[in-house]
Amino acid sequence: MKKISTLSSFSVLAACLITVNLVLPLNAIAATGSRVEPGADPTFQAGKKTFGRYCAKCHGKGADGEGRMARLYRKLQTQLPSNFTIGVYLSRPDIYLREVISKGGAASAMSQYMPPFGEELSQEQIDNLVHFIKRTPELHGFSPEK
Ligand code: HEC
Repeated sequence: MKKISTLSSFSVLAACLITVNLVLPLNAIAATGSRVEPGADPTFQAGKKTFGRYCAKCHGKGADGEGRMARLYRKLQTQLPSNFTIGVYLSRPDIYLREVISKGGAASAMSQYMPPFGEELSQEQIDNLVHFIKRTPELHGFSPEK
């Protein structure tokens, strides 16, 4: 009996050590505030793919607002597609971005040339796009810590 209880407290200790080893590196990352780069962030990458397919013709492949439709909008002297490389997009509320993407520009008193995507894209695809838009400024020297 004595032997069993020694054994089991040993395995409890071992389990604790394993847990500490697994959890500590994550804590270290959280404490230093370092995050995975957008390039290595799977949600960012998924958003980028959807963006390339549905949004780039207006907002540009690099999300800088210079898609091929931008030329036409300039000629028509109408609102240009937004440029998502600038710092303000780091802190655009998710709920606002989701709304514009789902319901289109006109529903938010913006350009009717921003189409609604709520029926074409899944909720997950829209969430990935929101994530992509909010992290794009990080590729252009803007930091979310500021
Ligand atoms: C046919 C052109 C076109 C396409 C395609 C398009 N957009 Fe837009 N989008 C616009 C225009 C033009 C505006 C600017 C609206 C304004 O400022 O009045 C805009 C604005 C936006 C805004 C508002 C940003 C802000 O400044 O507040 C978001 C978010 C957005 N688009 C996301 C997307 C996403 C995501 C996609 C792809 C799923 C997409 N757009 C596809 C033309 C387009």
